[in-house]
Amino acid sequence: MKILVTGGAGFIGSNFIYWVLKNRDWEIINLDKLTYAGNLENLKGIENDPRYNFVQGDVCDSHTVNELMAKVDCVVHFAAESHVDRSVLEPAVFVETNVVGTQVLLQAALENKIKKFHHVSTDEVFGALELDGSKKFNEETPYNPHSPYSASKAASDHLVRAYGDTFGLEYTITNCSNNYGPYQFPEKIIPLFVTNAQEDKSLPIYGDGKAVRDYLYVDDHCEAIALVLENGKAGETYCVGGDSEKNGIEMAETILKALGKPKSLMTFVKDRPGHDRRYAIDHSKITKELGWKPRVTFEEGIAKTIQWNLDNKGWVENILSGEYQKYYEKQYGAR
Ligand code: NAD
Ligand code: TYD
Repeated sequence: MKILVTGGAGFIGSNFIYWVLKNRDWEIINLDKLTYAGNLENLKGIENDPRYNFVQGDVCDSHTVNELMAKVDCVVHFAAESHVDRSVLEPAVFVETNVVGTQVLLQAALENKIKKFHHVSTDEVFGALELDGSKKFNEETPYNPHSPYSASKAASDHLVRAYGDTFGLEYTITNCSNNYGPYQFPEKIIPLFVTNAQEDKSLPIYGDGKAVRDYLYVDDHCEAIALVLENGKAGETYCVGGDSEKNGIEMAETILKALGKPKSLMTFVKDRPGHDRRYAIDHSKITKELGWKPRVTFEEGIAKTIQWNLDNKGWVENILSGEYQKYYEKQYGAR
Protein backbone atom coordinates (compact mmCIF):
# COMPACT_ATOMS: atom_id res chain seq x y z
CA MET A 1 0.00 0.00 0.00
CA LYS A 2 1.16 3.53 -0.76
CA ILE A 3 0.11 6.32 1.61
CA LEU A 4 0.28 10.08 1.59
CA VAL A 5 1.20 11.36 5.04
CA THR A 6 0.63 15.08 5.53
CA GLY A 7 2.60 16.90 8.22
CA GLY A 8 5.11 14.08 8.50
CA ALA A 9 7.95 16.39 9.54
CA GLY A 10 6.14 17.34 12.74
CA PHE A 11 6.04 15.53 16.06
CA ILE A 12 3.43 12.79 15.60
CA GLY A 13 3.84 12.55 11.82
CA SER A 14 7.57 11.81 12.05
CA ASN A 15 7.00 9.22 14.77
CA PHE A 16 4.29 7.68 12.57
CA ILE A 17 6.67 7.44 9.59
CA TYR A 18 9.29 5.63 11.71
CA TRP A 19 6.59 3.36 13.12
CA VAL A 20 5.21 2.44 9.68
CA LEU A 21 8.60 1.81 8.09
CA LYS A 22 9.43 -0.50 11.01
CA ASN A 23 6.11 -2.31 11.38
CA ARG A 24 4.45 -2.35 7.93
CA ASP A 25 5.56 -2.78 4.30
CA TRP A 26 3.81 0.41 3.15
CA GLU A 27 5.40 3.13 1.02
CA ILE A 28 5.10 6.73 2.15
CA ILE A 29 5.03 10.16 0.53
CA ASN A 30 5.39 12.86 3.17
CA LEU A 31 3.89 16.24 2.21
CA ASP A 32 4.96 18.95 4.63
CA LYS A 33 5.21 22.72 4.35
CA LEU A 34 8.00 22.88 6.95
CA THR A 35 6.45 25.55 9.12
CA TYR A 36 8.17 26.43 12.40
CA ALA A 37 6.97 22.99 13.66
CA GLY A 38 8.21 20.96 10.69
CA ASN A 39 11.77 19.74 11.01
CA LEU A 40 13.59 17.44 8.59
CA GLU A 41 16.07 16.62 11.35
CA ASN A 42 13.26 14.52 12.82
CA LEU A 43 13.49 12.21 9.80
CA LYS A 44 17.27 11.86 9.49
CA GLY A 45 17.08 8.19 10.49
CA ILE A 46 15.00 7.18 7.44
CA GLU A 47 15.62 9.92 4.86
CA ASN A 48 17.32 7.43 2.52
CA ASP A 49 14.82 4.63 2.96
CA PRO A 50 13.62 3.57 -0.54
CA ARG A 51 10.02 3.34 0.76
CA TYR A 52 10.06 7.00 1.82
CA ASN A 53 9.75 10.23 -0.20
CA PHE A 54 9.55 13.81 0.96
CA VAL A 55 7.77 16.66 -0.82
CA GLN A 56 7.84 20.19 0.56
CA GLY A 57 4.46 21.78 -0.05
CA ASP A 58 1.29 23.23 1.40
CA VAL A 59 -1.89 21.21 1.97
CA CYS A 60 -3.79 24.30 0.80
CA ASP A 61 -2.15 24.07 -2.65
CA SER A 62 -4.59 21.98 -4.68
CA HIS A 63 -2.19 21.49 -7.58
CA THR A 64 0.50 19.80 -5.46
CA VAL A 65 -2.07 17.89 -3.45
CA ASN A 66 -3.77 16.53 -6.59
CA GLU A 67 -0.47 15.44 -8.11
CA LEU A 68 0.44 13.47 -5.00
CA MET A 69 -3.01 11.96 -4.48
CA ALA A 70 -2.80 10.42 -7.94
CA LYS A 71 0.15 8.34 -6.70
CA VAL A 72 -1.28 6.85 -3.49
CA ASP A 73 -3.99 4.52 -2.18
CA CYS A 74 -4.68 6.14 1.21
CA VAL A 75 -4.11 9.36 3.12
CA VAL A 76 -3.16 9.92 6.76
CA HIS A 77 -3.71 13.60 7.48
CA PHE A 78 -1.66 15.07 10.33
CA ALA A 79 -0.73 18.50 8.90
CA ALA A 80 -2.10 21.24 11.11
CA GLU A 81 -1.30 24.19 13.24
CA SER A 82 -1.32 22.34 16.55
CA HIS A 83 -0.58 24.64 19.49
CA VAL A 84 -3.47 26.13 21.51
CA ASP A 85 -1.45 29.11 22.83
CA ARG A 86 -0.44 30.09 19.29
CA SER A 87 -4.08 29.90 18.22
CA VAL A 88 -4.83 32.55 20.84
CA LEU A 89 -2.11 34.81 19.39
CA GLU A 90 -2.71 34.15 15.68
CA PRO A 91 -5.98 32.35 14.90
CA ALA A 92 -6.13 33.00 11.12
CA VAL A 93 -3.48 30.48 10.09
CA PHE A 94 -5.35 27.80 12.08
CA VAL A 95 -8.41 28.29 9.90
CA GLU A 96 -6.29 28.35 6.76
CA THR A 97 -4.32 25.15 7.37
CA ASN A 98 -6.69 23.14 9.54
CA VAL A 99 -9.97 23.96 7.80
CA VAL A 100 -9.13 25.08 4.24
CA GLY A 101 -6.19 22.65 3.98
CA THR A 102 -8.37 19.74 5.04
CA GLN A 103 -11.03 20.66 2.48
CA VAL A 104 -8.43 20.84 -0.31
CA LEU A 105 -7.18 17.37 0.65
CA LEU A 106 -10.71 15.94 0.84
CA GLN A 107 -11.60 17.28 -2.61
CA ALA A 108 -8.43 15.83 -4.11
CA ALA A 109 -9.02 12.52 -2.30
CA LEU A 110 -12.47 12.33 -3.84
CA GLU A 111 -11.30 13.23 -7.35
CA ASN A 112 -8.46 10.71 -7.18
CA LYS A 113 -10.66 7.89 -5.78
CA ILE A 114 -8.57 7.46 -2.64
CA LYS A 115 -9.44 4.18 -0.86
CA LYS A 116 -9.39 5.66 2.63
CA PHE A 117 -8.83 9.12 4.08
CA HIS A 118 -7.75 8.96 7.69
CA HIS A 119 -8.08 12.21 9.60
CA VAL A 120 -6.05 12.71 12.77
CA SER A 121 -7.98 14.84 15.23
CA THR A 122 -8.03 15.71 18.88
CA ASP A 123 -10.13 15.24 22.02
CA GLU A 124 -10.12 19.05 22.36
CA VAL A 125 -13.09 19.22 19.95
CA PHE A 126 -15.29 17.91 22.79
CA GLY A 127 -14.64 20.88 25.09
CA ALA A 128 -13.95 20.48 28.80
CA LEU A 129 -14.94 17.94 31.47
CA GLU A 130 -15.56 18.69 35.15
CA LEU A 131 -12.34 18.53 37.12
CA ASP A 132 -13.62 16.16 39.80
CA GLY A 133 -16.01 14.09 37.72
CA SER A 134 -15.48 10.55 36.47
CA LYS A 135 -16.98 11.30 33.02
CA LYS A 136 -14.79 10.78 29.96
CA PHE A 137 -15.13 11.72 26.29
CA ASN A 138 -16.30 9.04 23.88
CA GLU A 139 -17.42 8.91 20.24
CA GLU A 140 -20.92 10.11 21.20
CA THR A 141 -19.78 13.23 23.08
CA PRO A 142 -21.18 16.41 21.45
CA TYR A 143 -18.69 18.87 20.01
CA ASN A 144 -18.05 21.98 22.13
CA PRO A 145 -14.66 23.46 21.22
CA HIS A 146 -13.36 26.53 23.09
CA SER A 147 -10.06 27.60 21.52
CA PRO A 148 -9.42 28.72 17.94
CA TYR A 149 -7.29 25.54 17.64
CA SER A 150 -10.02 23.16 18.79
CA ALA A 151 -12.68 25.04 16.81
CA SER A 152 -10.60 24.66 13.64
CA LYS A 153 -10.07 20.95 14.30
CA ALA A 154 -13.81 20.53 14.98
CA ALA A 155 -14.55 22.23 11.65
CA SER A 156 -12.13 19.89 9.90
CA ASP A 157 -13.79 16.82 11.48
CA HIS A 158 -17.19 18.06 10.27
CA LEU A 159 -15.83 18.56 6.76
CA VAL A 160 -14.43 15.02 6.69
CA ARG A 161 -17.84 13.61 7.71
CA ALA A 162 -19.58 15.88 5.18
CA TYR A 163 -17.39 14.48 2.38
CA GLY A 164 -18.36 10.99 3.52
CA ASP A 165 -22.08 11.69 3.84
CA THR A 166 -22.41 13.88 0.74
CA PHE A 167 -19.95 12.36 -1.72
CA GLY A 168 -19.34 8.87 -0.33
CA LEU A 169 -15.67 9.41 0.52
CA GLU A 170 -14.39 6.50 2.63
CA TYR A 171 -12.92 8.01 5.76
CA THR A 172 -12.03 7.31 9.37
CA ILE A 173 -11.28 9.78 12.17
CA THR A 174 -9.32 9.37 15.39
CA ASN A 175 -9.75 11.85 18.26
CA CYS A 176 -6.83 11.34 20.59
CA SER A 177 -5.57 12.85 23.82
CA ASN A 178 -2.28 14.69 24.50
CA ASN A 179 0.63 12.87 22.87
CA TYR A 180 4.18 12.90 24.22
CA GLY A 181 7.49 11.33 23.19
CA PRO A 182 10.53 12.03 20.98
CA TYR A 183 10.59 15.01 18.58
CA GLN A 184 7.84 16.97 20.35
CA PHE A 185 8.30 20.69 19.78
CA PRO A 186 9.39 22.35 23.05
CA GLU A 187 6.36 24.65 23.20
CA LYS A 188 4.21 21.78 24.58
CA ILE A 189 4.25 21.18 28.31
CA ILE A 190 6.50 18.09 28.60
CA PRO A 191 9.45 19.08 26.38
CA LEU A 192 9.20 22.70 27.60
CA PHE A 193 9.37 21.67 31.26
CA VAL A 194 12.18 19.16 30.62
CA THR A 195 14.22 21.78 28.74
CA ASN A 196 13.68 24.49 31.35
CA ALA A 197 14.38 22.15 34.27
CA GLN A 198 17.67 21.00 32.73
CA GLU A 199 18.76 24.65 32.49
CA ASP A 200 17.53 25.46 36.04
CA LYS A 201 14.93 27.79 34.53
CA SER A 202 11.42 28.10 35.94
CA LEU A 203 8.58 25.81 34.85
CA PRO A 204 5.61 28.08 33.97
CA ILE A 205 2.46 26.44 35.36
CA TYR A 206 -0.71 28.03 33.98
CA GLY A 207 -3.31 29.25 36.51
CA ASP A 208 -3.75 26.99 39.53
CA GLY A 209 -2.00 24.08 37.80
CA LYS A 210 -5.00 21.81 38.30
CA ALA A 211 -6.13 21.47 34.66
CA VAL A 212 -5.94 17.81 33.67
CA ARG A 213 -4.83 16.21 30.41
CA ASP A 214 -4.76 12.52 29.47
CA TYR A 215 -1.26 11.64 28.22
CA LEU A 216 -0.75 9.14 25.41
CA TYR A 217 2.70 7.86 24.41
CA VAL A 218 3.17 8.68 20.72
CA ASP A 219 4.02 5.11 19.61
CA ASP A 220 0.72 3.90 21.04
CA HIS A 221 -1.05 6.59 19.01
CA CYS A 222 0.82 5.53 15.84
CA GLU A 223 -0.27 1.92 16.31
CA ALA A 224 -3.88 3.03 16.81
CA ILE A 225 -3.83 5.04 13.56
CA ALA A 226 -2.37 2.10 11.61
CA LEU A 227 -5.03 -0.27 12.99
CA VAL A 228 -7.83 2.17 12.15
CA LEU A 229 -6.46 2.70 8.65
CA GLU A 230 -6.31 -1.06 8.07
CA ASN A 231 -9.39 -2.32 9.87
CA GLY A 232 -11.46 0.65 11.04
CA LYS A 233 -14.95 0.83 9.56
CA ALA A 234 -15.38 3.59 6.97
CA GLY A 235 -17.41 6.50 8.32
CA GLU A 236 -16.44 5.74 11.93
CA THR A 237 -14.67 7.71 14.61
CA TYR A 238 -12.39 6.20 17.25
CA CYS A 239 -11.34 7.87 20.50
CA VAL A 240 -7.74 7.09 21.52
CA GLY A 241 -6.39 7.81 25.00
CA GLY A 242 -3.53 6.88 27.29
CA ASP A 243 -5.35 6.20 30.61
CA SER A 244 -2.92 8.66 32.22
CA GLU A 245 -4.57 11.77 33.63
CA LYS A 246 -2.13 14.33 35.04
CA ASN A 247 -2.42 17.97 35.99
CA GLY A 248 0.18 20.71 35.51
CA ILE A 249 1.52 20.48 39.06
CA GLU A 250 1.88 16.68 38.88
CA MET A 251 3.65 17.01 35.55
CA ALA A 252 6.11 19.59 36.89
CA GLU A 253 6.78 17.51 40.03
CA THR A 254 7.38 14.33 38.00
CA ILE A 255 9.86 16.04 35.68
CA LEU A 256 11.70 17.88 38.47
CA LYS A 257 12.01 14.66 40.49
CA ALA A 258 13.32 12.69 37.50
CA LEU A 259 15.96 15.36 36.81
CA GLY A 260 16.86 15.86 40.50
CA LYS A 261 15.79 19.52 40.41
CA PRO A 262 14.10 21.50 43.22
CA LYS A 263 10.35 22.14 43.39
CA SER A 264 11.18 25.82 43.76
CA LEU A 265 11.51 25.93 39.93
CA MET A 266 7.70 25.64 39.74
CA THR A 267 6.27 29.09 38.92
CA PHE A 268 2.56 29.84 38.67
CA VAL A 269 1.89 32.19 35.75
CA LYS A 270 -1.19 33.82 34.23
CA ASP A 271 -3.72 31.25 33.07
CA ARG A 272 -4.34 30.45 29.39
CA PRO A 273 -7.54 32.22 28.25
CA GLY A 274 -10.37 29.70 27.90
CA HIS A 275 -8.19 26.97 29.50
CA ASP A 276 -10.17 23.70 29.41
CA ARG A 277 -10.20 22.13 32.88
CA ARG A 278 -10.04 18.43 32.07
CA TYR A 279 -9.74 16.04 29.15
CA ALA A 280 -10.13 12.27 29.54
CA ILE A 281 -10.82 9.56 26.97
CA ASP A 282 -12.89 6.42 27.08
CA HIS A 283 -11.16 4.25 24.46
CA SER A 284 -13.40 1.19 24.84
CA LYS A 285 -14.63 1.31 21.21
CA ILE A 286 -11.18 0.92 19.61
CA THR A 287 -10.24 -1.60 22.28
CA LYS A 288 -13.32 -3.72 21.61
CA GLU A 289 -13.38 -3.41 17.81
CA LEU A 290 -9.68 -3.36 16.92
CA GLY A 291 -7.96 -4.81 19.99
CA TRP A 292 -5.97 -1.62 20.64
CA LYS A 293 -5.00 -0.40 24.07
CA PRO A 294 -2.15 1.77 25.30
CA ARG A 295 0.93 -0.38 25.92
CA VAL A 296 3.24 2.26 27.44
CA THR A 297 2.51 3.37 31.02
CA PHE A 298 3.02 7.02 31.92
CA GLU A 299 5.98 6.08 34.12
CA GLU A 300 7.73 4.28 31.23
CA GLY A 301 6.77 6.90 28.67
CA ILE A 302 7.90 9.91 30.66
CA ALA A 303 11.22 8.21 31.54
CA LYS A 304 11.85 7.47 27.83
CA THR A 305 10.85 11.00 26.81
CA ILE A 306 13.08 12.68 29.38
CA GLN A 307 15.98 10.43 28.35
CA TRP A 308 15.38 11.26 24.67
CA ASN A 309 15.50 14.97 25.46
CA LEU A 310 18.73 14.51 27.44
CA ASP A 311 20.28 12.51 24.59
CA ASN A 312 19.19 15.03 21.94
CA LYS A 313 20.20 18.35 23.42
CA GLY A 314 21.46 19.49 20.00
CA TRP A 315 18.00 18.97 18.48
CA VAL A 316 16.42 21.13 21.19
CA GLU A 317 19.22 23.73 20.98
CA ASN A 318 18.66 24.19 17.23
CA ILE A 319 15.00 24.91 17.86
CA LEU A 320 15.64 27.19 20.82
CA SER A 321 18.07 29.33 18.88
CA GLY A 322 15.74 29.71 15.87
CA GLU A 323 12.44 31.44 15.22
CA TYR A 324 10.95 29.84 18.34
CA GLN A 325 12.86 32.31 20.53
CA LYS A 326 10.49 35.13 19.52
CA TYR A 327 7.41 33.11 20.45
CA TYR A 328 8.96 32.01 23.75
CA GLU A 329 9.77 35.59 24.76
CA LYS A 330 6.27 36.77 23.88
CA GLN A 331 4.73 33.95 25.88
CA TYR A 332 7.02 33.65 28.92
CA GLY A 333 9.52 36.53 28.84
CA ALA A 334 13.30 36.32 28.26
CA ARG A 335 14.84 32.86 28.59
P1 NAD B 1 3.15 19.54 14.91
O1 NAD B 1 2.81 20.98 15.10
O2 NAD B 1 4.32 18.98 15.64
O3 NAD B 1 3.39 19.23 13.36
C1 NAD B 1 2.56 19.74 12.36
C2 NAD B 1 3.24 19.48 11.03
O4 NAD B 1 2.36 19.95 10.00
C3 NAD B 1 4.57 20.22 10.85
O5 NAD B 1 5.52 19.37 10.28
C4 NAD B 1 4.21 21.36 9.90
O6 NAD B 1 5.31 21.78 9.09
C5 NAD B 1 3.12 20.71 9.07
N1 NAD B 1 2.22 21.72 8.46
C6 NAD B 1 1.63 22.79 9.08
N2 NAD B 1 0.93 23.50 8.19
C7 NAD B 1 1.05 22.85 7.00
C8 NAD B 1 0.52 23.10 5.70
N3 NAD B 1 -0.26 24.15 5.46
N4 NAD B 1 0.83 22.23 4.71
C9 NAD B 1 1.63 21.16 4.94
N5 NAD B 1 2.17 20.90 6.15
C10 NAD B 1 1.88 21.73 7.17
O7 NAD B 1 1.82 18.75 15.25
P2 NAD B 1 1.63 17.34 15.96
O8 NAD B 1 1.66 17.53 17.42
O9 NAD B 1 2.52 16.35 15.32
O10 NAD B 1 0.11 17.04 15.56
C11 NAD B 1 -0.20 16.33 14.37
C12 NAD B 1 -1.70 16.20 14.25
O11 NAD B 1 -2.22 15.54 15.39
C13 NAD B 1 -2.44 17.53 14.17
O12 NAD B 1 -3.49 17.41 13.24
C14 NAD B 1 -2.99 17.73 15.57
O13 NAD B 1 -4.18 18.49 15.56
C15 NAD B 1 -3.26 16.29 15.98
N6 NAD B 1 -3.21 16.06 17.42
C16 NAD B 1 -2.07 16.34 18.13
C17 NAD B 1 -2.02 16.07 19.51
C18 NAD B 1 -0.77 16.30 20.30
O14 NAD B 1 -0.79 16.06 21.51
N7 NAD B 1 0.32 16.75 19.73
C19 NAD B 1 -3.14 15.56 20.14
C20 NAD B 1 -4.29 15.31 19.39
C21 NAD B 1 -4.30 15.54 18.03
P1 TYD C 1 -0.15 21.78 25.98
O1 TYD C 1 1.06 20.89 26.04
O2 TYD C 1 -0.03 23.13 25.40
O3 TYD C 1 -1.30 20.91 25.27
P2 TYD C 1 -2.88 21.25 25.10
O4 TYD C 1 -3.09 22.68 25.32
O5 TYD C 1 -3.13 20.84 23.69
O6 TYD C 1 -3.59 20.35 26.08
O7 TYD C 1 -0.71 21.96 27.47
C1 TYD C 1 -0.99 20.83 28.30
C2 TYD C 1 -1.45 21.34 29.65
O8 TYD C 1 -0.36 21.99 30.30
C3 TYD C 1 -2.57 22.37 29.58
O9 TYD C 1 -3.43 22.19 30.70
C4 TYD C 1 -1.85 23.69 29.71
C5 TYD C 1 -0.67 23.36 30.61
N1 TYD C 1 0.56 24.13 30.35
C6 TYD C 1 1.20 24.81 31.41
O10 TYD C 1 0.74 24.77 32.57
N2 TYD C 1 2.32 25.53 31.13
C7 TYD C 1 2.84 25.59 29.87
O11 TYD C 1 3.88 26.30 29.68
C8 TYD C 1 2.20 24.90 28.81
C9 TYD C 1 2.73 24.95 27.41
C10 TYD C 1 1.05 24.18 29.09
